[in-house]
Amino acid sequence: MDEATARQEIVRYGALLYERKLAHGSAGNLSVRLADGSILVTPTNSSLGGLEAHRISRVSVDGDLLSGDPPSKEAFFHLAVYQERPKARAIVHLHSTYSVAVSCLCHEDASDILPPLTAYHVMRVGKLPLVPYYRPGDRKLAQAVGHAAKDHRAMMLANHGPIVSAPTLAEAVGAYEELEETAKLFFILGERKISPLTCEAVEELNTVFGPAA
Ligand code: 13P
Repeated sequence: MDEATARQEIVRYGALLYERKLAHGSAGNLSVRLADGSILVTPTNSSLGGLEAHRISRVSVDGDLLSGDPPSKEAFFHLAVYQERPKARAIVHLHSTYSVAVSCLCHEDASDILPPLTAYHVMRVGKLPLVPYYRPGDRKLAQAVGHAAKDHRAMMLANHGPIVSAPTLAEAVGAYEELEETAKLFFILGERKISPLTCEAVEELNTVFGPAA
């Protein structure tokens, strides 16, 4: 995808996520990786509901601003995910309500913090590890995110929110929405005895559809 089209896509999906109330205030950031390895990322403190294509930041693989407004303070964790996931071309990070609520719970098993409630969660999101809390923009956060990205397409930042990567922005947005819905289901089910998918069912999904890459 060329740079101009990628800029338009970021504007379009930013507005869509804002309209669907998955993004609020100036929280969240989106990025797309271009053919030369540089990334387009939403500017810091911008509302995803009102992005302007020409102001979106273009950042080199080393984190230097090449054009546009000052980038998201999280540009470094976006770069860390791309470094570890060659097939990833887009990343969505938001502070949507149900996912952030899950990120604030105590989790006994930090390797996968949501049960496999539905096939689409397994297919689109996969295992969801919890990344320990660091302040937004902390380089240690980018380091921890890079570590988790080696084996996971999606992850949850403690007391913060999810990061989802995918080969296209459309897929990353779709997977993010799937994750938010699973988080919502998790709270709707509450204390009731739940019946998640069995290990065999998860394995079958991964065999038939491929593990969430
Ligand atoms: P930016 O405005 O710098 O992108 O930060 C928002 C955010 O979501 C921090 O995690």
